[in-house]
Amino acid sequence: MKIIHITDFHLVAPGEPLWGLDPHARASACLDDIVRWHGDADFCVISGDLTNQGDESAYDWLKERLENFPLKTFLMVGNHDAREGFRHAFPETQKDENGFVQYAHKSDQGVFLFLDTLKGPVSEGEYCAARRGWLAGQLKAAADAPVWIFMHHPPFDIGIPYMDRIKLEEPEAFADIVEAHVNIRHIFFGHVHRAAFIHWRGIPCTCLPGTNHQIPLNRESVGTPYSFGPPMYGVVLIEDDKTIVHFEPCLDRAPADMGSR
Ligand SMILES: [Fe+2]
Repeated sequence: MKIIHITDFHLVAPGEPLWGLDPHARASACLDDIVRWHGDADFCVISGDLTNQGDESAYDWLKERLENFPLKTFLMVGNHDAREGFRHAFPETQKDENGFVQYAHKSDQGVFLFLDTLKGPVSEGEYCAARRGWLAGQLKAAADAPVWIFMHHPPFDIGIPYMDRIKLEEPEAFADIVEAHVNIRHIFFGHVHRAAFIHWRGIPCTCLPGTNHQIPLNRESVGTPYSFGPPMYGVVLIEDDKTIVHFEPCLDRAPADMGSR
């Protein structure tokens, strides 16, 4: 099974730049690259921060763009999103009994859970008791089947102080739920705008760069909270005994200079 993980498009009003770059052009190039090289994937996931400020015009642009994207795509919300604008453009996206944008996808391979960690117009993430109840129910229903979780905010510090302050709130309450399930194969998240691997409470976790701007590990190395760097999407290969994550730098494909070999 092959799935594609993309995150943090940060779309603005079409035609406007964001931090000196064109987020629409870059998101679109990412999608084109996926179609060209990984069109055989079973599905894509975009793990939140679809937009930069929840603009309806940005969601409308994405809706139209995805109509020309042949792969099934699961959409999620992040802290830069707004549920109202998201629902306006994507009313068909499933939600839980409390209206949160979280849902499950079951396949022959196992269960994929897409979580809603949006708190509101703030940067930190929230996974309240109601949402935790939904997750506990999904994990119980999955029984022994393998489970892969996608969420926008990491439930742990990642070694970047200003990002650690805006991780998922109440991480221990979240950990209490997932730690009890040894069948959770992997947690995928966004928010951090970096390629990183974390082994947390026995669960492998990965995050990805965004498609527009990145976050430097050392802010002093660039002098600003955001930086430029190669966008990547994750190519996730799932087999019975392993989950492989390739970080694919989609806007930076160039052959090596092999001389006369
Ligand atoms: Fe983001």
